[in-house]
Amino acid sequence: MRQHWQKKPLLARTALPEYTNAVTRDDLVALAGRSDVESRIIRQISGCWKVQHGPFKRSAIARLPRSGWTLLVQSVDQVLPQAARLLREFAFIPYARLDDVMVSYAAPGGGVGPHFDSYDVFLVQGQGARRWQVSHQRDLELVDDSPVKILRNFRPQREWVLEPGDLLYLPPAWAHNGVSIGDCITYSIGFRAPSAHELGSRFLEFLQDRMALRGMYADPDLKATRTPGTIPPAMITRTSSMLQQLRWSETDVVEFVGRDLTEPKMQVVFDRPSRTFTPEDFAKRATRKGLKLNLRTRMLTYGRRIFINGESYSCGPASARLLSTLADARELAPPLRTDTRTRRLLYDWYRAGYITLHPRKSSGERRMQES
Ligand code: SIN
Ligand code: CO
Repeated sequence: MRQHWQKKPLLARTALPEYTNAVTRDDLVALAGRSDVESRIIRQISGCWKVQHGPFKRSAIARLPRSGWTLLVQSVDQVLPQAARLLREFAFIPYARLDDVMVSYAAPGGGVGPHFDSYDVFLVQGQGARRWQVSHQRDLELVDDSPVKILRNFRPQREWVLEPGDLLYLPPAWAHNGVSIGDCITYSIGFRAPSAHELGSRFLEFLQDRMALRGMYADPDLKATRTPGTIPPAMITRTSSMLQQLRWSETDVVEFVGRDLTEPKMQVVFDRPSRTFTPEDFAKRATRKGLKLNLRTRMLTYGRRIFINGESYSCGPASARLLSTLADARELAPPLRTDTRTRRLLYDWYRAGYITLHPRKSSGERRMQES
């Protein structure tokens, strides 16, 4: 972190060899067929970059040419436990910075073209190999009218061929281009670095929903005018003083950051449990089995404030400690000791599908897809 994070690329050979076969082309084709999973196919046709958005039928993918295309599937960590496990390898970085794990399958010669991201990204090579070219160029001008973000003048400075298990870290705004050598799977673990403009506009939206400004415009001293087309200067002064009420505190910022970062992406739906236990039964089972977060759940804490899937709660110190452990480890091991209020909260989250009772591990779990 000291030497590379947000500073310069890092190439780590054989960093994560155990994930080489974690996600396969078949897994990605299956995910690309789902309407609750975001997928894209990118390819170059007669020199122009084209993008198609999923879901894709298996047969449509089978009809693609033998080479020169890429299938990208977003937020795979939210649907495949093995991708969620890969993500946990990066738990030395706060989840608050995390975006998702994108996984791509590229046919030979496939890639998404030279570009830069507004992300810190760890590119982990799965099956196959990929040639990465990177550049710290200042010129980030993009090709006009392209549906894919492509750099107009990419000037590679370094290049590496990543083999299964190798990792390449790139800070935001580093230009890069990855072209597959043969069939290739790449995991991109992205950490968002939003622009001030993006943060500001989302914060203003958040403030709008909680703002209550007092008073209404009043001008009992208004004089009759011969220039009705002119804005009276007094109107600007009054409006300006009314707008002075637009203020916010650090608590508002905490609330905004927590809710904003845990807000589920648009296509995310939480399935309620098919068989609902009563609060008493749930408490008994949770005490015995423990709990874990649904793969799609985003949970963060800030002191005694707990944020889960865009909702915010404040709790007592013991409860906050327990829920912070849940947020960090994404599970609570049995035996569970909770007070009544926390139990009620956990029960509500269980009913909403945010958490599940910790299932016993079975040998088939590794490749099982969470439904
Ligand atoms: C890819 O996996 O093809 C693209 C990853 C990236 O360039 O960020
Ligand atoms: Co990129």
